[in-house]
Amino acid sequence: MVADAAAPASGRPGHVQEMATGLIGAAGFEPLGLGSRRGRLIAFEGIDGVGKTTQSRILAERIGALYTWEPGSTPLGRAVREVVLARDELAISAEAESLLMLADRAQHVSDVVRPALEAGRWVVSDRFVFSTLAYQGYGRGLDLGILEELCRWSTGGLWPDLNVLLVLDEQAAAERLDAEPDRLESDGRDFFEKVQAGYLKMAAADPDRWVVFYADLTVEELAREIETAVLERLSPHA
Ligand code: TMP
Repeated sequence: MVADAAAPASGRPGHVQEMATGLIGAAGFEPLGLGSRRGRLIAFEGIDGVGKTTQSRILAERIGALYTWEPGSTPLGRAVREVVLARDELAISAEAESLLMLADRAQHVSDVVRPALEAGRWVVSDRFVFSTLAYQGYGRGLDLGILEELCRWSTGGLWPDLNVLLVLDEQAAAERLDAEPDRLESDGRDFFEKVQAGYLKMAAADPDRWVVFYADLTVEELAREIETAVLERLSPHA
């Protein structure tokens, strides 16, 4: 089911229906230095356990896009991922966590995403700029304006053409995580409520660049709905 970001379906968890409007001004960033023949960038977003990785891989395969992810898809990114997610004995402040994510993203954009887009390929990224705004901004409480500027700087202004947000009750999402929780996954339910509410606010503030799905369908049903919505929004022939 596609949930209109500006008009959530009724009967959903309370926070889903309490989306504020007019949040941060994420619209307005345009890819810099890329010609009109460049590929499109689609980012999958959502809290841990909603099924982003499965769905982003399926979509990439079906539309012939390059699949990539954050953090960890470059050699630097793998080191960042190890430090930020696996080394739970390290004290990492919210600011340091943000800057590590941004270092991963800067390298990811320059080594993977931008070259692919410039070559005309479509790219599906499992997480991108809005993960920083949702987790470090809404989740950790850091200043959204500063984070947004830093995101813009880290990508050279590259912003997703479309964000696919998967939404699920936080408890259900937590139950889907099979392995030992990493440092971020160990944050409590309150944290994930704030992160998910943040995502929903950002989606509501910029409905042209977001499609929102409640991820309570089968993998195949959800995959079909996502593919249809993405192709409707970003026709390869447009
Ligand atoms: P994942 O690969 O399982 O999605 O894990 C990545 C974790 O990193 C997830 O908990 C979200 C978090 N994260 C941030 O907090 N900020 C970011 O900018 C990114 C890209 C990820």
